[in-house]
Amino acid sequence: MEKINLGVLVSGGGSNLQSIIDSIESGRLDAVIRVVISNVPDVRALERAKNHHIPAVVIDPENFRTREEFDREIVDVLKNHCVDLVIMAGFMRILTPVLLKAFPMKIMNIHPALLPSFQGLHVQQRAFDYGVKFSGCTVHFADEGVDTGPIIIQAVVPIYDDDTADTLQKRILKEEHRIYPQAIQFYAEGRLEIDGRKVHIKNYCTMETPCMHNPPLEKF
Ligand code: GAR
Repeated sequence: MEKINLGVLVSGGGSNLQSIIDSIESGRLDAVIRVVISNVPDVRALERAKNHHIPAVVIDPENFRTREEFDREIVDVLKNHCVDLVIMAGFMRILTPVLLKAFPMKIMNIHPALLPSFQGLHVQQRAFDYGVKFSGCTVHFADEGVDTGPIIIQAVVPIYDDDTADTLQKRILKEEHRIYPQAIQFYAEGRLEIDGRKVHIKNYCTMETPCMHNPPLEKF
């Protein structure tokens, strides 16, 4: 099977980048990371790339007059590395049409909440403060909005009484590390079909998943 070329955009720790690297190295994900781009210097994600001999570059927004010029530079680097699919892995910037048009429906993002609930920033804390009984994470295609593009896969995570925003964040992150490589593998296998807001996954087995309740039902 032909491998797809990934360009991964990061801004921080890069644990999602690491899960993608690990999935590739263990043979579960048919992809090659051609380049990692960070908008922040000296982040752990860059170190992770270096440890695995993946080309990594810093593109500092301070060096550009406009957001479009910054995105143009990102597009140039991605194209120079023959990237097919762009992966936003904790990339904390809103994309301009320059980047979106260069890779139409070829940019994925991961968000640490069950979209469309809790879009934007600090969402684990906000879900926790709101008192929802379930949160989770979402992989979606990027579009012009903030966390609004067509949804590919979601994981649901319960929130317990003795949780803190921090324990919740860790529980969500663990699932991010599972669904992101899966979403990319679906793409690599040519199994994602975009139909307006809906993303259909070809030939997947619809296993009956039991409905979850939190707290669990007792007599009903
Ligand atoms: C992840 O939780 C990711 O979902 C989130 O940033 C974290 C990055 O962690 N992204 C967003 O909030 C984007 N809206 P990582 O650098 O360890 O992968």
